[in-house]
Formats: sequence, C-alpha cells, structure tokens
Amino acid sequence: MTFREGALHCDGVPMDAIARATGTPVYVYSGGAIRAAHAALDGAFQGYPHTLHFALKANSTLAVLRLLRGLGCAADANSGGEIEAALRAGFEPSQIVFTGVGKTRDELDGAVALGVKAINIESDGEAERIDAIARARGVKARVALRVNPDIDPNTHAHISTGLRFNKFGVPLEFAAALLRRIAAMPGLDPVGIHVHLGSQIVDVAPLGRAAQALADLATEVRAAGVPLRHIDLGGGLGVAYDGLTAADPQAYAAAVLPAIRPTGLHLIIEPGRYLVAPAGALVGSVADTKAYDGSPRFIVLDTGMTELIRPMLYEAFHRIVAVTPRPGAEGPCEVVGPLCETSDTLGHDRRFGPVEVGDLLAVLDAGAYGFVMASNYNRRRFPAEVLVDGGGWRVIRRRQTFDDLFATEE
Ligand code: LLP
Repeated sequence: MTFREGALHCDGVPMDAIARATGTPVYVYSGGAIRAAHAALDGAFQGYPHTLHFALKANSTLAVLRLLRGLGCAADANSGGEIEAALRAGFEPSQIVFTGVGKTRDELDGAVALGVKAINIESDGEAERIDAIARARGVKARVALRVNPDIDPNTHAHISTGLRFNKFGVPLEFAAALLRRIAAMPGLDPVGIHVHLGSQIVDVAPLGRAAQALADLATEVRAAGVPLRHIDLGGGLGVAYDGLTAADPQAYAAAVLPAIRPTGLHLIIEPGRYLVAPAGALVGSVADTKAYDGSPRFIVLDTGMTELIRPMLYEAFHRIVAVTPRPGAEGPCEVVGPLCETSDTLGHDRRFGPVEVGDLLAVLDAGAYGFVMASNYNRRRFPAEVLVDGGGWRVIRRRQTFDDLFATEE
C-alpha cells in the first residue's frame, strides 16, 4: 500500500477504483505484500529444514490460503472449521497441524480420521482422549505436546499465551513425564513438541529462550526413547502497526536456530500476522462528519468494530489514511464507526485534513485478525474482500446479502 500521485495504491492499482467498484466497507489485500513477507521469513530460515505452517486464525479466506499454499506454506488450524478451510484451499491433511485449547470430541475424531500431520496436545486428559479415539479407529495418531514454558513475550496481556497463568499447554516441568506416557500409549505417535508464546512479539529474545527450553526438553525425552521428529515454535512475529518497528525475521532466525540446530529436528513455525497483516487494508467511506465547539471533530465511517475489532478489543493502533487526501490544514479528530457503541472508535486523536462525506479512508495493516473476527452485530453484513495480484484485482469474497444474513434462521 503506497501513495502514488497523491492517492493510495495497492500493488499499483488505485484503491479508489477498487472501492468505488465494490462499494464499502471492503478489505483489500496485496498479493505482492504477502509474497514479500513470505520470502523474508522463509528466506531467514533457509539452510535449516523448516516449514511455515500459516496460522489460519489470522486470515482464512480461501483465496488467501491458496496463495500461501502456492508459496509453499503448510497450515496451522485451530478448529474443525479451520481444518475444513485448509482442505478446501487444497492443503493435504499431512500439511495440517491442529492446535487449540478445548478441542471437542468431534473435532479430535475428525482430525484422527483425516490423519493430520500432528494434533498439538494441550493436557493429560486430551492425550488420553486422542489415544482412545485412535485405538477405536485402529490407528496411531500423530501428536505433539504443547508446552507452556512460563516465558513473558513482552506483548499485550490479551495476546500472551506462554505464561503459567495462561490457559495454554502443559507446564514445562510436567512435559517430559507426559511425553513418556504418551510414547507408551498404543494410539499415539509423539512426533513433536510445540510452544506458542503469544502474538505481536517484536523483541525476539523471549522466542530464543522458548526455543532453548524446547530443545532441552527434546534432548531429554529423546534420550528416554521418545522418537520426536519436529519442534514447533508457534507464531507470534510482530508487524509495524506504527509504520516503524516490526519483528526482524533474520533476528528471529538468529535467536532460535542456535538452540534448534543441534537437535537436528525439523523446525515448524506458525506465522499468522507477519504474513498477512501488512498486506490488508480495510476501506470505508465517510458517512458523516461533525464538529461542535467543545467536542471533538468526528469522522464517522461506514465501517467499525463489526469489520475490525482490534482497536476496541486490544486498544490496538492501526494507521488510518485518506485514500485521496484533500489539500488543506490538518486538525485533530476521532475516527469512529457507525455502531451504537462508544467503544466503536477506530482511531483516537488522529490528524486529518479536510474530509467530506463519501471520501474513502483506509485502515492499514488490517490483513490479520480483521475479517476473521468480523461480526454481524447491528445486523451488519460481512464486507467484501478483494485480492490484488498479478497486475489485476478480483473479488475473492462477495459482500454478504440480507438473504445470507437470515439464511440460518427459522
Ligand atoms: N500458533 C498458535 C498456537 C497461536 O495461538 C497463534 C495465535 C498463532 C500461531 C499465530 O500467531 P501470530 O503469528 O499471528 O502472532 N486476535 C489477536 C491475536 C490472537 C493470536 C492468537 N494466537 C489480535 O488481533 O492481535
């Protein structure tokens, strides 16, 4: 997403042309940005056997998944629905790792029947349930143990997962014993160990410490006869929502590979945000503006927390720009959505020049945890999605219709 001749473009295509054609709100994704992010991250691990399992929770629109699959990604699914999305996008079961706290019996049974690459086990009880399912089916299920290393990833509390008081995984000190138990269960094939510290991590040092903890655990349990094949370091690499500081893939690789290399185990990482966040913008139209003495100047968009809830849920900052800025003095303003909620503010205390009803504004870096977290609150319909790639653009998901919206009701 860059400005050219005073207007925002996506891979050379004017955003204005796209949004006028599709209507707003619309998510626009840059295929070029996804390819570039993939090349940077994959390139950083060149020279060590690895696979990038794209975390579908960040964006599971089928066309985006197909693009990533074409680049060589495998998949990290967090629910039966995400496994289904991965399959529909063409991933093989052997390319899917299945993570998630609270997997249901049906989800586990489905994953065992499919023969996914690994089910990432969250607890002793889950290990026993998968063992029983696999034995009933007369198969051995490939599993990895998710470890909670109690390491602070220095990110927002809502998206930290690797601390002891977080609900995820098995505390490190119980992991070796549980892996030995798993290895003795007839229905389970322990192929890996897994960790995910949290998300939007910019300081790679904690990721290095987690890699060391897992490498040490791998060495210990392999010596006890547990035949591991991979170490899965989860996702978490942060992007530059402020336009300034992102995690550096080279620094990430340099932080984790010294620990992983001596194990010789295949390395899995599960990036979500890093691959898709900067590639996406949410484009809305100005529905109203108002400024009265003693109150802020409001820019009211036709898009808000129903399309992008990150600012409201995590106090996340997203840059917001006018697609075709008008000349004139800038002033402070609140960029808000149309919902009947005070928290429906996309941008607090921003600066904009003159803005008129009908103008287009783009919320940047919205390609991850944007559409996937959308809701129909206020009976709003899911927006359209567009992919710009190969010099052209196309609608990859049409806007929901009212018929779609009511299709499941009595
Ligand atoms: N692997 C596991 C097991 C995860 O739980 C996650 C994210 C990922 C991989 C991908 O993490 P990433 O590379 O995208 O940081 N909705 C929040 C983010 C929640 C992330 C949850 N887990 C947000 O909008 O910031």
